[in-house]
Amino acid sequence: MDALEPARLGPIGLRNRVLKAATFEGMSPGGVASPALVGLHERLAKGGVGLTTVAYCAVDPSGRTFPDQLQLAGSEPTLRELTARVHDAGGAASLQLAHAGFFSKLRGPDGRGPRGPSWALNAYGASAGLPITRPMTEGDVARVIDAFGAAAEQAVALGFDAVEVHLGHGYLLSQFLSPATNRRRDRWGGSLERRLALPLAVLARVRAAVGAERAVIAKTNLDDGFPDGLGIDDAIRIAQAIDARGDVDLLVPSGGFTSRTPFFLLRGGLPLARMADAQPDALARIGMRVLGRAIVRAYPFEESFFLPLARRLRASVQMPVALLGGLVSREGLAEARREGFDFVVLGRALIADPELVARMARGELERTRCDACNECVVEMDRGGVRCVLDDA
Ligand SMILES: Cc1cc2nc3c(=O)[nH]c(=O)nc-3n(C[C@H](O)[C@H](O)[C@H](O)COP(=O)(O)O)c2cc1C
Repeated sequence: MDALEPARLGPIGLRNRVLKAATFEGMSPGGVASPALVGLHERLAKGGVGLTTVAYCAVDPSGRTFPDQLQLAGSEPTLRELTARVHDAGGAASLQLAHAGFFSKLRGPDGRGPRGPSWALNAYGASAGLPITRPMTEGDVARVIDAFGAAAEQAVALGFDAVEVHLGHGYLLSQFLSPATNRRRDRWGGSLERRLALPLAVLARVRAAVGAERAVIAKTNLDDGFPDGLGIDDAIRIAQAIDARGDVDLLVPSGGFTSRTPFFLLRGGLPLARMADAQPDALARIGMRVLGRAIVRAYPFEESFFLPLARRLRASVQMPVALLGGLVSREGLAEARREGFDFVVLGRALIADPELVARMARGELERTRCDACNECVVEMDRGGVRCVLDDA
């Protein structure tokens, strides 16, 4: 029942059940992967994780939220080197595939602003002159499905052992799943069954693209974190629909909507002053300082904070499910296994201690030094994600 024992994730073998969560690295200026990204994931693999996830790779350049998010075009040689180095260190690598939908400040190649399931105000895009987003057309939907398939195929060609499809946190597929943001009346919206149509089509296409030899992981929401958003009952029905289709090897339930409840998915500190300093223009800096606390809601940190909701989802499906959110101690990992979770997924604990798994295995460490200050969230915009406790 230990998290540190070897395991199979669908078709791939892993040396243990500890997965590094996708945490945007801030190491892809202009969308292109930098050598620092290779170094970070090599270090995590040397530190003992079973599988490391390269965060938020947009399936096409206009699926980025902002220009420095990773895209495949131009990143190929670096990502090929990354997977080779991770393999040499005994680990496996996954690429998180995502599309931002309306939560973007980028125009597409044809000059159009971001699109999502329905008409929406896009406060995030306002500073880029894109305050309103339009509903996607049938053609847009077809192109997104194709883009996920093509990106998954490329990920395999670059040596990734798994791809993680991002269906949570308020990005495009999450926008389609959420009743708050999907108000369509066609075959892609309305009932839960129709809200699921695009996400399921994407998962089927991704499975077809990666084949039977690589793993497909799906990161979903347990709860959007605001009234009228997606809640646990829908989350369970979504998980059951994914389970019934059989395209996915592992579910990673999370929660929150980056555009509305970003700290629901993190819990803990709200580094508002430093978030303000990281804003590109003076107006945004002042706005964040003055209004930050009113706009950005804080949630206290608790160890294994998604366990109460994730436990209900775990009990409702047959397929493998991971526990993510606030895993910070050896006892937390053991508890997750006792609760029936197949894998544990760690974000900030591994940003703070990339050697956490090796040190736990040697009996040197029972708990990460991470105190959920969330300063790492600001660091990712200042040259790359890192733990500020290194400065102490
Ligand atoms: C700096 C940072 C960047 C993140 N970037 C992403 C991301 O790109 N994609 C994603 O799905 N989640 C992202 N997350 C959320 C994590 O994957 C994870 O869900 C969250 O940190 C909770 O896990 P933890 O308590 O182990 O840190 C990010 C979290 C942090 C701290």
